[in-house]
Amino acid sequence: MNYNKKTVKDVDVKGKKVLLRCDFNVPQDKKTGEITDDKRIRAALPTIQYLLEGGAAVIACSHLGKPEPSFEKWVKKQTEKGKDPAELTEEKWQKSLKALTLAPVAERLSQLLGKPVQMAADVVGPDATAKAAALQSGEILLLENTRWEKGETKNDPATAKALADMAELYVSDAFGAVHRAHASTAGVAEYLPAVSGFLIQKELEIIGGALAAPKRPLVAILGGSKVSSKIGVINNLLEIADTIIIGGGMAYTFSAAQGGTVGDSLLEEDWKAYSLEMIEKAKQKGVKLLLPVDTVIADAFDPDANSQVVKAGEIPNGWQGLDIGPETVKLYCDAVKDAGTVIWNGPMGVFEFEKFAVGTKAVAEALSKTDAITIIGGGDSAAAVQQLGYADKMTHISTGGGASLEFMEGKELPGVACLLDA
Ligand code: 3PG
Repeated sequence: MNYNKKTVKDVDVKGKKVLLRCDFNVPQDKKTGEITDDKRIRAALPTIQYLLEGGAAVIACSHLGKPEPSFEKWVKKQTEKGKDPAELTEEKWQKSLKALTLAPVAERLSQLLGKPVQMAADVVGPDATAKAAALQSGEILLLENTRWEKGETKNDPATAKALADMAELYVSDAFGAVHRAHASTAGVAEYLPAVSGFLIQKELEIIGGALAAPKRPLVAILGGSKVSSKIGVINNLLEIADTIIIGGGMAYTFSAAQGGTVGDSLLEEDWKAYSLEMIEKAKQKGVKLLLPVDTVIADAFDPDANSQVVKAGEIPNGWQGLDIGPETVKLYCDAVKDAGTVIWNGPMGVFEFEKFAVGTKAVAEALSKTDAITIIGGGDSAAAVQQLGYADKMTHISTGGGASLEFMEGKELPGVACLLDA
């Protein structure tokens, strides 16, 4: 796939109406709706400011959460979750949609930009189209949650065209959503010249560069709970990396596959054979595959559980592994010391519980001390690095969770593929 795409700098934006797709899917406090982390809004600022200062009228859009825009499907989903169908009224469904409004984002964006951000009450409805038509150079309008439209996630051409009809140019800066082939992330590019913003450009350059021509040795640290969710990434990185380090819950499937006992730890029986295949593939490719040699185990999945350190593969019944052990920490930290590039995706343990955050913290600290290019995949690993206070020590923390993972899997990203080649 070609990642060399035209950017906002390659087109004339002056006096143009620009549809700008951002990823404003930000975490919010469940009760108050307050934005708890505005990193994704801040990450969009360089492109927004460039467009506004360049004399464009910016029509920004984004999804937020996973609202269900069909009443019938909402009822079906809620019923499957065990809700009483008699209580599932149209009013409640509307309320669930409205709870995912982008209004708090407009407010935060306005504070960050230091100028008003107009808010449309719909996505491609009468309010959005009227406000977009009246929008002047240097002004910004935010459309409502794109997923309120039934056609958005289906990549319906009518929805894509309705979005495109409001503008003359499409700029995508929603790196976190480039793995989605939706109307506002990909379909719209059928109807407008489409280029990338600075955030997508940066993510493509840094992650793409590390995958295509890494400064070696390239060390990939993979964690997280499930082997099944990391198959693609392990497979692809075995083609590229010099060393692959496995931690987190998925290590127990590898351990069980090699004949170890894992007690009550996370285990994906169906993926044991695959784990062995990966160990074999690493040998054939000459890739160093590091697995834990010891484990911190707990007698319950609880922040205050009793804990002890045992050898990997020797976890008694009634106990579960929640972190890598001290010997493994040493092994993994040594492995990143002389790396040229480190890509990290997935925590080493249950870092949300302080007692079991030691392994993740040690790896984050080791990364903060190397001279290597350090790239943190979004999602949990980004949250861990941030929560543990190492964010500003990393070369790059991706704003994409699923998107950075699919990028590392070597998959085509529809939200990038649809942009004009440079
Ligand atoms: C994310 O949070 O990873 C992106 O915004 C994509 O969201 P989605 O998984 O709901 O498509």
